[in-house]
Amino acid sequence: MKTIILNFSGRENGNCKSIANFIKEYKNDAKIIDIAKVCKKPCGTCNYECFDIKDCGNTINELYMELIKADLIYFIIPSYCGLTSSLFNIFYEKENAFFHKYEQYSDKYLEIEKKFIFVANYNFEYFYNIASMLNCKDKNDVLFLSSSRYNLKSVNGDLLTSDAVKHTLKNFIFDEISYEKSAMAVVISKNKILCTKEEVFKKEILSLPKGHIENDESIIEAAIRECYEEANVKIQKDDYVTTLTPFTIHFINEKDEPTCKTIIPVLFLNNNVKINNIKEERIKEIELIDIKEFLTKCSYSNVKDVVNEAVLTLLIK
Ligand SMILES: Cc1cc2nc3c(=O)[nH]c(=O)nc-3n(C[C@H](O)[C@H](O)[C@H](O)COP(=O)(O)O)c2cc1C
Repeated sequence: MKTIILNFSGRENGNCKSIANFIKEYKNDAKIIDIAKVCKKPCGTCNYECFDIKDCGNTINELYMELIKADLIYFIIPSYCGLTSSLFNIFYEKENAFFHKYEQYSDKYLEIEKKFIFVANYNFEYFYNIASMLNCKDKNDVLFLSSSRYNLKSVNGDLLTSDAVKHTLKNFIFDEISYEKSAMAVVISKNKILCTKEEVFKKEILSLPKGHIENDESIIEAAIRECYEEANVKIQKDDYVTTLTPFTIHFINEKDEPTCKTIIPVLFLNNNVKINNIKEERIKEIELIDIKEFLTKCSYSNVKDVVNEAVLTLLIK
């Protein structure tokens, strides 16, 4: 099995290089390629010579010729100003030129297993899009290592001093992901929606009541129970309208394991919902708010999608 590890940071001793070395410890015959040594020149004034004649100061052709022979490629990409590093951008621009010349290799390149590690503190959706541009189909093949999550400063390049980071990386290398299932209560009452406010990493989050589905309960029972535990509102099985489209999120759980959680939203209609006292400590506020207002203020885009689907469902019914 031929594994190639691409380091997209220019720093010799930064986080990306340490991550590359860490992977190599487990994959002895893997080859680390520092893109800084290959992609020295960004695009300049030209007439697209790279499309048909030769490399323009970079040894990109040789690099791609090597990549197409790999079975697995790790991309280790640092975030600069919320985006990918310029070294990654140069590499990616040149891909276009290479496959323009050597079209016969493009299917092979697309098929190669690719794993992505982004050293980034925010803009996660953008990075997922970058991974999908390189034909990554499974979000489990994308790992975010955020220094702030481990109370470290990313510019110090000391991410790998954290045992939690090493543990997470090891799980990622060996595909050890924990899977969880949650039910979410979408409770509509007189054109308002029941929502909760809580504090996560010092940020106020407006969302909907949700939580683990226990082994012995159905999705509807779990949504009803979570609604009671988190929002102190008792809804009934009779209020059930339908189960909406599930969505999946990825994060690191409290045991520092990469986790893939599927959230199944359940729609209820009850025009007599009353707000009671808060009983769950984590929750800062329970509110019935106008659906339109919720859609502008809700913290998560996937929860907004759920509520839009709920509104459409109720309109049709
Ligand atoms: C100019 C510059 C801008 C940066 N912008 C961001 C950023 O927007 N988001 C982020 O999470 N990290 C940012 N960082 C931190 C880098 O992602 C971090 O230092 C990373 O570890 C760099 O990889 P390296 O340690 O292998 O060099 C920035 C670093 C530099 C030098």
